[in-house]
Amino acid sequence: MLRWSRPSPSVRSEQVRTRVDQPGLRMRMAQEARRISSQHRQLDSLHALVAGALERRAPAQARAAFVRLRDALDAHMALEDELHFPALRGLRPDLDAELAGLVREHRRFRRSLDALAETFADGNAAACARGLESFVVAFGDHERREERLLTATASA
Ligand SMILES: [Fe+2]
Ligand SMILES: [Fe+2]
Repeated sequence: MLRWSRPSPSVRSEQVRTRVDQPGLRMRMAQEARRISSQHRQLDSLHALVAGALERRAPAQARAAFVRLRDALDAHMALEDELHFPALRGLRPDLDAELAGLVREHRRFRRSLDALAETFADGNAAACARGLESFVVAFGDHERREERLLTATASA
C-alpha cells in the first residue's frame, strides 16, 4: 500500500534551512531527485489501476483507486512545493521562475482533481475515462519537465 505523508510545517522550515546551509546539499538533492522520480513511476502505476478498473466496468474499484491516486498526488505535490522546490531554489536561484510555474501547475492539478472527484462520484464511466486521460496527459508533461530539471540540477 502506498502511503506518503505530507511534511509537517515545523519540520519543513527547519529541514529547508538546514539543507540550504549545509555542505553536501548537491548530493542530497540527487537523492531527492531519485525519490521524486520513483514517486512519478508509482503515480503512473496508480493511474493505470484507475484506468484498468474503468475498462473492466468496476465502478467501486475505480472510485477506490482514484481516491488512492488523488491522495498520493496530493502528498507528492506537497513534498515538491514545501521541501524539494525550496531546497532547489536555494541551490539554483536562477530556476525561480520555472519552479514558480510548476507550483502554479500543482494548483491547477488540484482543481482538476476536485472536478474529477465529482465526475467519479457521478459514476459515468466514459466521462471518468475521458477526464482521467486528459489529466494523465497534462500531468505526464509536467513530470517530464520536472525530471529534466532534476537531472540537469543533479549533474550540474
Ligand atoms: Fe510536480
Ligand atoms: Fe512531480
